[in-house]
Amino acid sequence: MSAGNSRIVETNQTGIHEQLDNLVDKYIQTENLKPIQPHTKKAFEQVITWLGAWEGDIIFDSCCGVGLSTIALAERFPDAKVIGIDKSEQRVGKHLHHSQAVENRLNNHLLVRADVIDFWRLAVAHKIQLSHHFLLYPNPYPKKTQVQKRWHGSSSFLDIMALGGVLEIRSNWLLYLEECQFVLNKLGHSSTLTAINGQIVDFQPLTLFEKKYINSGQTCYRLVAPQYLEDKF
Ligand SMILES: C[S@@+](CC[C@H](N)C(=O)[O-])C[C@H]1O[C@@H](n2cnc3c(N)ncnc32)[C@H](O)[C@@H]1O
Repeated sequence: MSAGNSRIVETNQTGIHEQLDNLVDKYIQTENLKPIQPHTKKAFEQVITWLGAWEGDIIFDSCCGVGLSTIALAERFPDAKVIGIDKSEQRVGKHLHHSQAVENRLNNHLLVRADVIDFWRLAVAHKIQLSHHFLLYPNPYPKKTQVQKRWHGSSSFLDIMALGGVLEIRSNWLLYLEECQFVLNKLGHSSTLTAINGQIVDFQPLTLFEKKYINSGQTCYRLVAPQYLEDKF
């Protein structure tokens, strides 16, 4: 999916997937034994070196695309170290190309090319604890048969939980976030689900996808867990 594509999500699902409850029960009992891909291991080592002896807040901007949100978050949280992660070499490369001036000005963010499935596992094993975790406009996988590809339909969601912090997931597909909220509830976490458009004063889109959706008149939603809302963004 490209940021140029602003179509409304079409799905053959009418409500929360009826298998989701069982799926979560299953993945809670399954250990992911897949080997970690070398490029992600390398990216993770780069991040560990960059963090050094850092003991302050750490923020993940997972699946950050070209990393506009990573910059915005680095500006919004100047006392934190913000790590943008995306598996697309092309998107990560675009960030570096477009933002040299910002790179020179802000030294509290880093963008890496990595698969978050492996990256999150490594971070959990390394006992990294986040202050915030942003997952902005994840691929929706809207077909009913694709439920296990959604983050909350996969065991990766447990790694997201283990990383802690305030989790914020945004989407233009309300059902995606309702499903996330369902899983969060099942795992014992409260959350708040709201529409973004018109709710936030001086709203500035955080990402390219958000900008496209809002410009095309769609409603975007944010799910924040634990139940806690920040007034801007
Ligand atoms: C719909 S785009 C959203 C990008 C950005 N957050 C935005 O809102 O503009 C989804 C992004 O997730 C990334 N992605 C999907 N699966 C991933 C994975 N397993 N690891 C890292 N990035 C992934 C894709 O490369 C893509 O950039």
